Order: sequence, then C-alpha cells, then structure tokens
Amino acid sequence: MAEFLNGWQRTEYCAEPNSEQVGKEVLLMGWASTWRNLGALIFIGLRDRTGIMQLVFDSGTLSAEKFEHAESIRSEYVLAVKGILQERSKDMVNPEMKTGKFEVIVSDFKILSTSQTPPIYIKDDLDAAEQMRLKYRYLDLRRPVMQNIFALRHKIAMIAREYFSNNGFLEIETPMLTKSTPEGARDYLVPSRIHKGEFYALPQSPQLFKQLLMLSGFDRYIQLARCFRDEDLRADRQPEFTQIDLEMSFVDENEIISLNEGFIKKLFKDTLDIDVKLPLQRITFKEAMERYGSDKPDTRFSLELKDVSDIVADCGFGVFTGAIGSGGSVRAIKVEGGVSAFSRKAIDELVEFVKTYGAKGLAWMSLKPEGLQCAFAKFLSQEQIDGIIARMEAQTDDLLLFVADKDDTVFAALGALRIEIAKKLNLIDENVYHILWVTDFPLLEWDDEQERFSAMHHPFTSPKDEDLQYLESDPGRVRAKAYDIVINGYEAGGGSIRIHSQELQEKMFSALGFTTEQAWAQFGFLLEAFKYGTPPHGGIAYGLDRLVMLIAKTNNIRDVIAFPKVQTAACLMTKAPSTVDKKQLDELGIAVVADKEE
Ligand code: AMO
Ligand code: AMP
Repeated sequence: MAEFLNGWQRTEYCAEPNSEQVGKEVLLMGWASTWRNLGALIFIGLRDRTGIMQLVFDSGTLSAEKFEHAESIRSEYVLAVKGILQERSKDMVNPEMKTGKFEVIVSDFKILSTSQTPPIYIKDDLDAAEQMRLKYRYLDLRRPVMQNIFALRHKIAMIAREYFSNNGFLEIETPMLTKSTPEGARDYLVPSRIHKGEFYALPQSPQLFKQLLMLSGFDRYIQLARCFRDEDLRADRQPEFTQIDLEMSFVDENEIISLNEGFIKKLFKDTLDIDVKLPLQRITFKEAMERYGSDKPDTRFSLELKDVSDIVADCGFGVFTGAIGSGGSVRAIKVEGGVSAFSRKAIDELVEFVKTYGAKGLAWMSLKPEGLQCAFAKFLSQEQIDGIIARMEAQTDDLLLFVADKDDTVFAALGALRIEIAKKLNLIDENVYHILWVTDFPLLEWDDEQERFSAMHHPFTSPKDEDLQYLESDPGRVRAKAYDIVINGYEAGGGSIRIHSQELQEKMFSALGFTTEQAWAQFGFLLEAFKYGTPPHGGIAYGLDRLVMLIAKTNNIRDVIAFPKVQTAACLMTKAPSTVDKKQLDELGIAVVADKEE
C-alpha cells in the first residue's frame, strides 16, 4: 500500500551527507536498489539521482511490526527513511562508492510505493536489448549512467546560455508551427483545421526567423531550439533534435568564429577539464576532401589520401586510366604495417566495404618483405611503381589501397575506408578531442537527380565576395562564407554569413532554379523584409545532442535524448506515430489513402 508523506520532508539527497553530519538525523527518499536480508539485519541501498546510501534496518532497534514491514521491501520500492547517519565499521567501508564510508541506521520509514520486478535491471552495465530499454525508457533513465548523461546535458545547455548571455545574446523563441525552411531535409507537416488543405511545417531550423530578428535590431540572438527533419536516421541523427542556435549582426566570419572558440574553450574546460588551445585549426573544404576524403575529417589519426593520378595517367591499367580519362582521379591511402595486419580475406572485406560507398573496386599493393604483391603491377612501368611508392612514402610491410573513380566517389570511399581501418587497427585515441573549423565550402552542389544546383549549406548563405562574379556564369565554382565546426569526425555545428540584400538573394534563388514568382511565393516575407534596412549578419548552430554525445563519449545519439526515436522514426514507448480517429481526420479535411504498411 502506498503511504503518503504526511509532513515528512527530505533533508538531503542520498549521496550528500558528509562527515559533519555523523550522529545527526537525516531523512532520505529514493528507490530501494540492492537489498540483503541477514535475518536480524536488513541492508538496503537507497538510490536517488545523486547516488546510493546504505540503510541498515536493525531488528534490535525497530519495533517487530516495523521490522516485518521492512522485510517486505523489494527492489525499486520507493522509500522515505528517517535515521541517524553513522560511519561504517572499517571492514564495511566501500571505497568505490561516494557514500562508502557511511550508513544510515533507520529509526522510522514509509513505503511510498511498491514495484513489480522491473523488466530491465536498473544498473549501469546492462546488456538488455535497446528495444527493451526504449520500451521502458523511464526505467532505463533511472540507471546512474543515464542520470549522469542528462545532468551533463543540462550542464552543457547552461554553459551555452551563460556564455552567450554574458556576451550580450538574448534568448528569443521562434515558432514551431511555421512555413518550410529549406535545410535540405523533408518537412514534418501539421494540417490546419481552420485552413483545410493547408499545412504548417515544423521548423528544420529557426533560420529565417533568426535572420529576421537581426533585421529587427536584436543584434545577438540565442535559442536552444527544437528542430525537425524527416530524413534517414543514423547513429548521430534524430528526426527531432536540439540546436544551440545563434545569430549576430554587424560581424564577419572571423568575429563569429573567435566568439565561438571562446564558447568551445569554456565548454571543454567546464565539462571535462580539458584546455582547448586557441585559435582552433582551420582547413578549407578542398583540403579536407583531398586529405581526408570528408568535409568532417577525423584528424585523430593519419591515413591521409594522396593523389597518384599524375603518376598513373598513361599506365596500361584500364581501371586507372578510364577514371582519369573521364575527369576522375586515382587516390590511395597507406596502411603502415598493413601487410601483416590484413590477411587476403581481410583485404577482400575492405573491397566489399568500399563498394557500399559506390566504388567499383579497391586495388591494392602489398609491400611484402619478399617483394611487391600487386595484381595490376604488370600494367605499370618500374618508374610508375617507384613513383607511387615515393609519393606514398611507403616502406616494407605497408599496404597501399587505391580507388579510381570520379572525385566524389573516390573521396566517399577512401574517406570511409580510412575510418574503418583506423577502427580495425585501433588507431583512434578515444581520450583526445580534435576540434577544427572547415571553411570555404562550395556555395552550391550539383544535384544529379533534380538536375539543378542546390545550396550546400542553405539558400541564405552568402557567396565569397571574390567569387560573386561567377554566380551566373560558373555557379559550381563559387565558394561560400560558410564554416563547420568538426569534433572527432562529427559535424558538431555549422553556420555562415548570410546574404543581406534582396538583389543577391534573388540571384541566389535563380541560381537554385527558382523563378522569381516561385521565390516570392515561398520566401516573399524575407525578400520583402530585405527592403527595410538589413544589417550584415551571420551565425551558427550547434547540434546540442551531438555535443553531449561527444563529451559523454557515446556514439549513439539515442543515449543523450531522453525519449528518442528508433531507426523507423517511431517511439517504442508511446508507440507514436499512430492512427487517429476518423472524426479528427474529418475535422482536418484529410482522407488517408495509403494502407498502413505491415
Ligand atoms: P545545419 O543544418 O548544419 O545548419 O545544422 C546545424 C547542426 O545541427 C546538427 N544536426 C542534427 N543533429 C541531430 N540530428 C539531426 N537530424 C541533425 N541535423 C543537424 C548538426 C549540425 O551541425 N540553420 C543552420 C545553421 C546556421 O546556418 O546558422 C542549420 O540548421 O550538429
Ligand atoms: P576488374 O578489372 O574489375 O576485374 O578489377 C581489377 C582489380 O581492380 C580488382 O582488384 C578490383 O577490385 C580493382 N578495381 C576495379 N575497379 C576499381 C576502381 N574503380 N578503383 C580501384 N580499384 C578498382
């Protein structure tokens, strides 16, 4: 039977009592975690979000009725206990626990709530399937590891608010029910009841609103903003996630970057006591692609790409010359000691691996002690072979891995392969953080499917002044005033200086293939606003979830979101999404045509 508090008030959290309180009465509340019944004595670990305190129920001091009541306590019962804090006897001290020196001799207690045996254990080293954890998320979140993650998440949010507030930023909320903001994903739509057949879009980001706030003169804006994107989920992506979203007026890229470096420094100092050295490294998009095959390079290990196209341009190996002939390249990475580390079968697995990134194959060269082993060596002159070995700075026992294709494919395949190999060979130091800016992104990228350019960041990003001249004649060549912050191979944040003139914004829409009418129909409010005095402005947004992931050292974004969605964008606990009443649909003027998929 659940008892009520009836005036009992907690004096502190379970892990708070200290030596000064020894001999004094405390009143604690929490969940029974471990319990041991020794007949005359019962030991129970009382757990709350701060930790566990050992309770001692002694048949010698408690009334028979109370002691019998104590015997009924089971795991996860909710208790309120009064007792005297005392030091444990020397042999009972548990140095592993924050409260390992203390125990509470219970004088009175209430069972506030009972519990059935929980379907998952409430302990850190849990091997339950994630499906079970998510179905019973409220129990999963009771585990100390999870409690620590959410305390960390709170701390990170507070550091952001405090740092930016101290730098003059105002937190302003922007709407959830709004119009589509193109950030490159599909929108989540919300039907309007009053305007049948019309829809709000949930924001993919507050992008346009934060720009309009600059126009309104707020000058520096911050929001911990919920964003919604209907895209394929991955280990670092959720359909709804949180941004630390910022915008500033009257600044250029360098000012935004240096203010944000101050934030990063404070963040790592206050959470992990790590001193981040400023300024952070900056590398251009082009260099990131050429050296790491990725615009979010993990630079904690080397395995850099090298271009060998010039050396093999006129060799007899059709795979290489074919790729070069059609405008592509041949690039390679060197795996030091790779000959010993990778068996023939393991190399075959690498070949299959790169194919999942669109490569047609993976050519390889083994520098064995007894000589070169390489299937395509017969198509190369000795000079070409020597040239490759020199370019790759390769030595005996090194394995060289080549991909020949159009550049995009070569980068995607080798970029992923270098990470795969680093993981396989344990080359990544999990205790260091490599933080860098990637700059000079292309403004536009060609979309094969839609046969038009699309914005690499978003359509409001400003071209670089010196590249403006190519916007109409050679759009692919234009670089953007955009920057991403990359931490250990994750895109932790991204931003840009924005276009702040109607004329340039219209040109940008036209480069993206919008007619003037289409641009005005969708973004008229922005173009109109640009007529009334727009300060130069720019900003950035961090993925809060990703920052928490990185600092908590988990590689699963679901671990840092209290109630996350699974791969299929469903919530296993609430069973959302779900069907709704016909009446609700009728009110919205909506008829469902597609059958619910099995
Ligand atoms: P962008 O689209 O790059 O920029 O997003 C900014 C940051 O948000 C995080 N992020 C995500 N995190 C979890 N799940 C997702 N599905 C997801 N998508 C993005 C990433 C990313 O770096 N309005 C611009 C910002 C700006 O220009 O100021 C924007 O949204 O960490
Ligand atoms: P093939 O000519 O397709 O039989 O391939 C000969 C060898 O070259 C095989 O080891 C393939 O894995 C490799 N290979 C094929 N296509 C490529 C490519 N685009 N880049 C690198 N290696 C390739």
